[in-house]
Formats: sequence, C-alpha cells, structure tokens
Amino acid sequence: MTEARIPLLIDTDPGVDDALALLMAFNDMHHAVVGLTIAAGNVGLEHTVANALKLCEVCGVDVPVYAGAEAPLVFPARDAAYVHGRDGFGDTGYAKASRRADAEHAALAILRLSHEHAGKLVLVALGPLTNLALALKLDPTLPSRLARCVVMGASVTAHGNITPAAEFNIAFDPEAAHIVFSAFPRIELADWEAVLAHGFLHDDAERWLAADSPRARFYAGISAHTRAWAKAGRGARWHAADALAMALALQPEGALELLERPLAVETAGQFARGATIVDWNRQTGAADNVVILMRYDQQRFERMIEAALAATVA
Ligand code: RIB
Ligand code: CA
Repeated sequence: MTEARIPLLIDTDPGVDDALALLMAFNDMHHAVVGLTIAAGNVGLEHTVANALKLCEVCGVDVPVYAGAEAPLVFPARDAAYVHGRDGFGDTGYAKASRRADAEHAALAILRLSHEHAGKLVLVALGPLTNLALALKLDPTLPSRLARCVVMGASVTAHGNITPAAEFNIAFDPEAAHIVFSAFPRIELADWEAVLAHGFLHDDAERWLAADSPRARFYAGISAHTRAWAKAGRGARWHAADALAMALALQPEGALELLERPLAVETAGQFARGATIVDWNRQTGAADNVVILMRYDQQRFERMIEAALAATVA
C-alpha cells in the first residue's frame, strides 16, 4: 500500500528563493501541498499573491492560494525589492496567471487546514510571520494540531542580513515573530547563518537551470536579477534561504547537526529590533523552543534543488 502523503502548508512571500522552495515542495512525492498562504514581505502582497499563482500555473499544480496580511502587525517595514526585483520575480513582465486567489483569508485558511489535517499538517513559514501570528491570536490552540512547524528566519548569533542584528523575515514583523516563537513549543529553524553555510556555486545553479523543463526555464528568468545581485555582492556561491528551510522540512533526515535552545525576539531597541536572541548558555531558565539547524547534508540539498528544477510533472 502506498504511504499517504504528508499534508504541507506553506506560508510564503514569493520572492525568488521562496519560488525555489515551492518547486522543491511540488516535486516531493512524500508530501502533498494543501495550500499556499501568502504574506507581504519581499514585495507587496499584490505581487506575492500574483507570483504564487503564476508559479503554480507554470508547474501545472492546482494548489489553493490564500492572500494574507498586507502589512506587519504594528509598524511598517521596508521590502526586499532590491534583491528580488520590484515585482518579486525579477521584473520579467510575465503574463499573469489566469487563476485568482481563493477568497478565504490566509489566517483563517491556516486554522481550517489545521483542523482538516489535525496531527498531520506540516507548516513551513518562509516569510514574515504576520499570517501565522494572526492565526494564533484567533486560535491559540493552533500549535497542538500541527505535526511540525519549520521556519526560515532569525540569525542565531545576530549576524543579520537586513540590519546588522536582524534577519529579514523577523525584522519585517518582530511583533508577529514574538507571538509565534512564544506560542510554539518547538520550531525547527533554518536561520540566516545556516543559509550562509549552505550556499551553492553559481556555476552549478546555471547548469541546473539549463534543464529542459518549463520550471527551469521560468526559474532562470525570474532569478536572473537576484543571481546577478548575489554574484556581484556575495561571490561564487548563491544562498537561497527558503530552499534550505524546505530541504529541512521535506527531508529532515538530511540534518547533520541540530541544537535545541530557547530563543526570544527583540521587539524594541534602536539597533537590535528584530534580533533573535538565543540563550546559548541557558541563563534565563526559559524552555527550549527552537531546534536550530547547524549543518545539513549539502549534497542532498543540492540534489533536491537540481531535481526540482528539472521536474516536468506535478
Ligand atoms: O532572510 C531571508 C528571508 O527573507 C527569505 O525568506 C527571503 O525570501 C526573504 O523573505
Ligand atoms: Ca521568503
């Protein structure tokens, strides 16, 4: 008897690295993507929703897409269009998908799907945590129904990417991140510093993008701006943050080193708002709430990316 596929719900702000993570999820035979809930973050919500719908159309997958919050919970935040392009997908001018987003709000979809797949649902958060925080405020029992919660975000020794101390997803909505990391007893965390340790060569990426598949061709187009920006600023290796988090979600057996610790989110501070403070020496007495990915099997990671780009069927 074939094993039932694990239901996967992805909250995302596509975003070029989000798109690679989604391609990996669409190509995984052990998981079934039951929904995409969309956040504002890399670019505005109108673009992130349109990008999610377009990627589903390119991949021929009929996954429901739910629009979420247009802005962070409390304070406005700057986007990452300088990395991903003004439209979040490399400004290629792609023809909009014919399908529209479902009418249900992302926060409500998260709660409904947590009941429909109670005990089995794996939630992967690849963007600012606004939608997840709203869902938690509506129903604080949400964590009890999730099998796993995997987050791309944070910088566990404060080597930030959007400020010196903070990583983008957390810094975009620190109040939301505080709500989420306070509510979940165990979050599997792929932070920015782990991402930097698991870059892959641009030369390899360009070889994978030459695969004869609509997905590779589309992704080559939407990632051109980001790859050029990364090459100019970060050298020979490209870092796709959300792809690493998705590898951890899809194949947790690829994790070679994990550390459990308490983590808290700084929501105040002139220099450190959005910083994620890990109690490495357990000085606070707080309970461990994160499982930090320290090392992942790089070959396994790169094989997943190559296969996702070359895939031709949903
Ligand atoms: O810091 C990297 C994260 O911020 C990734 O999720 C990227 O897509 C952006 O959202
Ligand atoms: Ca993202």
